[in-house]
Amino acid sequence: SREYQLCPSILSADFNRLGEQIQMLERAGVKWLHIDVMDGDFVPSISFGMPVIKSIRKESSMFFDVHLMVTEPGRYIQDFVECGADSITVHTEACEDLERTIQMIRDSGVRVGVSIKPATPVHDISHFLEDVDMVLIMTVNPGFGGQKYMEETTEKIQELRELIEEEELSVDIQVDGGINRETLPTVLRAGANLVVAGSYVFNGDILQNVKEATSTIKR
Ligand code: DX5
Ligand code: ZN
Repeated sequence: SREYQLCPSILSADFNRLGEQIQMLERAGVKWLHIDVMDGDFVPSISFGMPVIKSIRKESSMFFDVHLMVTEPGRYIQDFVECGADSITVHTEACEDLERTIQMIRDSGVRVGVSIKPATPVHDISHFLEDVDMVLIMTVNPGFGGQKYMEETTEKIQELRELIEEEELSVDIQVDGGINRETLPTVLRAGANLVVAGSYVFNGDILQNVKEATSTIKR
């Protein structure tokens, strides 16, 4: 039985009210919190890092799903574990030695995710499927919230789901970018089971948005 979760991305939160908004998610039954770390090198933008994660960790018992959009993320695995990550996802495009980086995350005791950008084929990570808990298929180019879903990524989700079924593995498929009420059914049908949503959750009435998204995901 596959676990289906909505993973709100705090990149779209109002940082002046971050604690309050996270509490709201928790009360609405959200289990996974998606945390986007950007270094201004792997992606053009800079978001936030350890101090923010450490602060919200004190107030939340949600599962902290940390998405590292960072060049050579191996340099920081220990730091993110110490500040409260439950899962760490790294980009294959950002790692000189992906196998070694995966092993570092594994050894640190948290869950392991690998991610591919829209232009990177599934093939680039297919030989690591036995070593990871999750593959994150980016459905926009990483770097900013609020972008449009790239339709050409749907078939990558399908391809990965077929591969996982064929090999009888229990790897989760997460999608991230441009998820809204129109694109959510598409990614679920294609085989995603962990769905990141930033602007969809945080623009407008958070509670209402979570209810709507969750009812589609856990149908
Ligand atoms: C993009 C980030 C996403 C972003 C998604 O680089 O990885 O997690 O917050 O935002 P939306 O859902 O608004 O596309
Ligand atoms: Zn993300």
